[in-house]
Amino acid sequence: MNTNQIPINHHHIFSCPKSLANQTVYVTPEKMCNNNNTNCVNISSMLQNFIPTDDDILSRRCIWVNGPVIVGAGPSGLAVAAGLKLQEVPFIILERANCIASLWQNRTYDRLKLHLPKQFCQLPNLPFPEDFPEYPTKYQFIEYLESYASHFDIHPKFNETVQSAKYDERFGLWRVKTVSRSGMLGSCEFEYICRWLVVATGENAEKVVPEFEGLEDFGGDVLHAGDYKSGERYRGKRVLVVGCGNSGMEASLDLSNHDATPSMVVRSSVHVLPREILGKSTFEIGVTMLKWMPVWLVDKSLLLLTRLLMGNTDKYGLKRPEIGPLELKNTAGKTPVLDIGAFSKIKSGKIKIVPGIVKFCPGKVELVDGRVLEIDSVVLATGYRSNVPSWLKENDLAEIGIEKNPFPKGWKGKAGLYAVGFTRRGLSGASLDAMIVAHDIANSWKEETKQQIKTVAARHRRCISHF
Ligand SMILES: Cc1cc2nc3c(=O)[nH]c(=O)nc-3n(C[C@H](O)[C@H](O)[C@H](O)COP(=O)(O)OP(=O)(O)OC[C@H]3O[C@@H](n4cnc5c(N)ncnc54)[C@H](O)[C@@H]3O)c2cc1C
Ligand SMILES: NC(=O)c1ccc[n+]([C@@H]2O[C@H](COP(=O)([O-])OP(=O)(O)OC[C@H]3O[C@@H](n4cnc5c(N)ncnc54)[C@H](OP(=O)(O)O)[C@@H]3O)[C@@H](O)[C@H]2O)c1
Repeated sequence: MNTNQIPINHHHIFSCPKSLANQTVYVTPEKMCNNNNTNCVNISSMLQNFIPTDDDILSRRCIWVNGPVIVGAGPSGLAVAAGLKLQEVPFIILERANCIASLWQNRTYDRLKLHLPKQFCQLPNLPFPEDFPEYPTKYQFIEYLESYASHFDIHPKFNETVQSAKYDERFGLWRVKTVSRSGMLGSCEFEYICRWLVVATGENAEKVVPEFEGLEDFGGDVLHAGDYKSGERYRGKRVLVVGCGNSGMEASLDLSNHDATPSMVVRSSVHVLPREILGKSTFEIGVTMLKWMPVWLVDKSLLLLTRLLMGNTDKYGLKRPEIGPLELKNTAGKTPVLDIGAFSKIKSGKIKIVPGIVKFCPGKVELVDGRVLEIDSVVLATGYRSNVPSWLKENDLAEIGIEKNPFPKGWKGKAGLYAVGFTRRGLSGASLDAMIVAHDIANSWKEETKQQIKTVAARHRRCISHF
């Protein structure tokens, strides 16, 4: 093999600029041409020296992306994509599921509504339809995201899971390896090569499933809140809900509404706030106050108002953390619960609060206070975590994430690496990240493209560049 050439065979496909789209392309270190050599473009000067290893050549199709690769087609990925479209920067989105917003479509329960008022949840450049209610349902939100994708003509590559992404310092390029499950060929492996990588896989990519002694012998059904749809199938059953975050509270409420008997495990402490105070969203009140006051004072004010409305939650087994709700969210990422009805069920005893778990036995659970409860089913509302550390090699997201660069700086890493939606600020934080990231990439893409065009003009006057 001539090592100055990037080999092209059926294992090796280079995705290329519009002028060569849908054509078989041939790549030399200098240019990318179609079959009859009539339509050529120069490829990135960095790619000129890029020689995949023999292993890669044999096993993976290789795709050069003239722009960023975005990993994840949830709200964050879509919002960056829209920003790039508006600035005419080409990109690819890789999505492991078979649809956009897979968290919302596949891993949420039926009764879910946005907890924050709609103006805090819409993505950049396309507002929610005017007839949407203050708190849209998950179905309305999905409908909006579908129309967002079609409005900006965004077409992710579905069923494609990123397995690893590694920065190749020799060439100044990212190498993103995926497994694709689509098509007639069964599963295929690809390697995308690009200058910019946008991580948009979400803070809630994987379920957290703790290990409990004896759970395998419990005998009843056990599922994670990510698989919970409705309390319908639990009618008349005694259900242990493990966890008291927003998922645990809402699953307990839903179970109670379906005539099941939920017991909710609260092993530590939790801030429960009303979703609204005197008809105004608690979140909005907090955001407004933060413009004038330090976070500790906002926390104190919110807790005072909450106390007036809800009374002392400790009395019902919901001990408050020592740190205030907003400060706790900022420092430890723990989201306060915005109550939409569970608390009154707790007060009336329809949702029982129980302490931490020691172990499960057949049909039973033993608690740290020594009680043993007979239960039929378990819902693990034990939260989610990011999957980034499992696939982003070397440049761990921690490098660019919130630990080292607190909000609003956590969006940019080294060497063309970006993160969207990792600032623990839900959809509004993701939208803000997306706008900054799209703008930053567009600037450097345009800068690099300008240089490339000059090079083409000088070196290959015959060739027309469409970069
Ligand atoms: C039940 C529930 C309700 C919520 N409600 C609200 C709310 O009301 N308001 C709010 O602001 N926030 C809410 N959140 C938080 C919510 O996760 C985010 O606001 C929002 O979904 C974040 O969007 P995202 O695009 O960053 O992540 P996600 O929506 O999680 O999207 C990430 C995408 O990346 C894909 N992906 C992951 N790993 C890979 C991989 N290796 N390769 C390819 N693709 C991959 C996933 O399949 C997914 O489609 C809620 C979360 C949950 C769990
Ligand atoms: N409508 C909405 O907007 C909505 C609805 C649901 C979820 N969400 C969002 O989705 C995200 C995830 O929420 P979530 O409620 O699923 O997760 P979460 O906020 O991380 O809460 C997880 C809960 O599980 C508990 N837990 C974990 N391991 C446990 C164990 N071994 N034993 C007992 N308890 C255990 C935790 O207790 P500790 O605190 O003691 O660790 C915590 O109470 C949040 O951002 C949330 O706001 C939003």
